[in-house]
Amino acid sequence: MIFETHAHYDDEAFDPDREELLSSMKEAGIGTIVNACASVDGMKDTIALMEKYPFIYGAVGVHPDDADKMTEDTIKEIRSLSRHKKTVAIGEIGLDYYWHKEKEEHLLQQQMFRAQMEIAREEKLPFMIHSREAAEDTLTIVREYMRSGMYGGIIHCFSYGKEMAREYLNMGLYLGIGGVITFKNARKLKEVVAYAPLSQLVLETDSPYLSPEPNRGKRNSSLNLPYVAKAIAEIKGITCEEVIQETEKNAKLLLRI
Ligand code: NI
Repeated sequence: MIFETHAHYDDEAFDPDREELLSSMKEAGIGTIVNACASVDGMKDTIALMEKYPFIYGAVGVHPDDADKMTEDTIKEIRSLSRHKKTVAIGEIGLDYYWHKEKEEHLLQQQMFRAQMEIAREEKLPFMIHSREAAEDTLTIVREYMRSGMYGGIIHCFSYGKEMAREYLNMGLYLGIGGVITFKNARKLKEVVAYAPLSQLVLETDSPYLSPEPNRGKRNSSLNLPYVAKAIAEIKGITCEEVIQETEKNAKLLLRI
């Protein structure tokens, strides 16, 4: 069955039909979903989804976009939610310099990223990283933590080139591959997928964002993952089934499900 490692079903884009959509997953071959927290207020929604659906697990944390909304209490809340029996990772956390250009914002994001990496280390949980236009700083921080007893993690929606991929793969981390791999102009990502061993790739959508071809531009959901698996299978010259089985195995190993 397909293992979806990163979706946001708490997003308001799913308000009209969340229940119906999630109830159709099993039949469509989607076996497991990890819902990733993004905002400070969204954490309770992820917990509610984990508690309602047996096949939904959670990553708890706050996205760099919300770094300025985080307080001491937020960090305490993340730590406490990290001990929920269905929490499988700390995420999505990281750095985003695309939407935030000021030096002060970068420093604040780094501080919150580190605080959440500390929780991952102390609670022995994998991390799930968002990194956009912040390649060097992300690598520096991840390297630093990987030297000191981290469990491992996923670089979600990997958007850098082969050289950067090599750094993360050498540390034993996983790359999250989603809809972008089906885009015609995704030359760089196609090179990364050709280069990376299948044993270090996982499937993800980032729903409701980044719908693959032929549904590009529409609301995304895990039901689109077969298009992602097919694109990876074509690049690697293997079957879709192999991609689905191996990436499921990888995700279950890392996330201990
Ligand atoms: Ni996301």
